[in-house]
Formats: sequence, structure tokens, C-alpha cells
Amino acid sequence: MTRTIPQPDWQTLDALRRRFLLAGPGGLSDYWASDHDLAQYDATFAERIRWKWAAVLGELRTNPAWALPGGMTLLDWGCGTGVAARAFLSAFPAMRDGHVMVSDRSSRACEFALGRIRDEHAPARLSRFVGGQIPRDTVVLVSHVLDELPGPALQALLALLRQAEAVVWVEPGTQALGRSLAGLKATLLDRFTTVAPCPHDQPCGLLQPGRERDWCHFFAPPPPEASQDRRWSEFGRRMAIDLRSLPTSFLVMRRAAPSPIDRPPGQVRILGRPRPSKGLVTCLGCDPSGAVVEMRVLRSHDRATHDRLREGGFCLRVPRAS
Ligand SMILES: C[S@@+](CC[C@H](N)C(=O)[O-])C[C@H]1O[C@@H](n2cnc3c(N)ncnc32)[C@H](O)[C@@H]1O
Repeated sequence: MTRTIPQPDWQTLDALRRRFLLAGPGGLSDYWASDHDLAQYDATFAERIRWKWAAVLGELRTNPAWALPGGMTLLDWGCGTGVAARAFLSAFPAMRDGHVMVSDRSSRACEFALGRIRDEHAPARLSRFVGGQIPRDTVVLVSHVLDELPGPALQALLALLRQAEAVVWVEPGTQALGRSLAGLKATLLDRFTTVAPCPHDQPCGLLQPGRERDWCHFFAPPPPEASQDRRWSEFGRRMAIDLRSLPTSFLVMRRAAPSPIDRPPGQVRILGRPRPSKGLVTCLGCDPSGAVVEMRVLRSHDRATHDRLREGGFCLRVPRAS
């Protein structure tokens, strides 16, 4: 979906931006002061988050390990304006036949999200989740909330996730959040199997000693309007956000089953951005063994792989032998 940004209220957006930059576990109380603030957020920050969800869900749509039936339960946890649920329902329309739930510590945000989801997708059942057990067939979406959660809130979320059928978790691709997400994966491995981005079910290799400076992240492609629409350019400039770059960390897991899931065999998943220089591309890759490998691909040695890496992409995999 392409959209232009409606009339921005820079004062409100500035205030929101400052709050997000100040975010830290427990550092923020409910900041949704009005529907106006939510609408401004939804048209700007949330829209940019939607671009990231589009990349993650585009990958999932072609991942055989994700083939879940429609009509399940969907829970957008820490929903804000419900952008994650709306992106998910766009990517998997059969989920509109099921029950869509939202939850957020802000009642105002929940009401706003319910309205937007109803308008965009009209799911068969739509409600606010107010705690307790979730149905076993629930897919939980978590988006851009990790750095707002103090320890006890995070533990409560993890306990909830353990009841779910699947989890799709998307965060900004910063070093801190990418590494936190890798740590959370390790704690969920007893209950879940990894669908993406890892090509393995081991704890993240970047958590090994000596890898402290690296993290698992990818760059989602921005839509054309990010560079073509004057208001988006102004938004980027005023908020000091480079809209051409959408660093994203994410984790998709589903309940472990007796039979292993279907993974693309022998493929190394490329992390971050490959670094091209004359006739050579270097990059970090996540190997099916769980190890992180430093890759150096010479054009003269393997032109096809070299050119693929040079071209880049969100879901970039190359054969293991390269
Ligand atoms: C940065 S916003 C992201 C909103 C939305 N998920 C998105 O991607 O646009 C973080 C959201 O998490 C909610 N939140 C923060 N701490 C929470 C908690 N302990 N329990 C539930 N929601 C929380 C906030 O109210 C806010 O709506």
C-alpha cells in the first residue's frame, strides 16, 4: 500500500520522537495523551514500521515453514495504533476469518487500534485482550516495544508467548535491540522452533564471546514515496531519520512439533549489509550449523554469488559452500 503523509503536526511528532529516544525499561508511563497523537503517530512513525513489517511478512509468505492455516487467533501485543495487526492481515487475508485481539497498557491506544483494524480489514471477531490465557492457536505479534519493557513486564510477556502457537517479533535493527532479541530467542527455544531469520535452531552465534560488536539485523526496502513525497522528506529531516534505511531485527518462531520444519537446505543467511569493494564482497553470514561465518567472495572466483551479495536485499541467502 502506498500512502502520502497527511498534514503533519510537527510539535506533536517532535514530542513523540523525544519520548521514544528517552525510552528505557520503565522510563515511560502511558504517553498516548489523545487520539490526535495516535493519528499523527499512525501516519508517520507507524507507517515506517509498517514498511518493516511488509518486508518480514513478505519473506514469511514464501517460507514453507510458516504455512499456518487462516482463521486462527491474532494478538497484537503493545499494539499502539495496531499497525502490526493491519500489516499481518494485509499479508495473510485468511486470518480475517479468525479472532483478532489487541492489547496495550493504554486503553486509548487499544480503542484506536480496534477502529483502524475494523476499518481496514473487518475481521470476523475483533476485541481487546485484557489478560488471562490466550487460545492455543494464537499468533502473537510484538512490534517496537522491547526497550519500553522493564524486567517483570518482559517476563510476563514471555510467559504469555509460551502459550502461543507462533510469535512474530519486529524491532528496530539497533545493536542493543538486535542482541536482546537474540537472547530472547535462546530462552524460547525450549518451546518453539525458529522459522526466521535463522537457518537453524541453535542459540544465536552472535552471542558467543568475541562477537559482542555484531548483531542480527537486515535492511527493509523503503517504498518509493519515502524518497519521492515532499512530506516524507520533511518528516525525515525534522525527525533526523534516514528514510532510505530501514534497519530491522526480527524473530519468527512457532511451536515445536515432532517433525522438523522445512528449511531451505544448506543456505547461509546474510546479516546486515554486504560490503562491496573492488572485485570483492565481504559480509557476515549465519550458517545452518548455528555458527556465524565471515564471508569473502571474490568476483573472479564466484561471479554469481559475488553479484547477488553486491545487489543486496532483505532476505539474502547464498549456498553454504560459497
Ligand atoms: C513504540 S510503541 C509501538 C506500538 C506498535 N506496536 C507499533 O509497532 O507501532 C510501544 C507501545 O507499547 C506499549 N507498551 C509499553 N509498555 C507496555 C506494557 N508494559 N504493557 C503493554 N503495552 C505496553 C505502549 O503503550 C505503546 O503503545
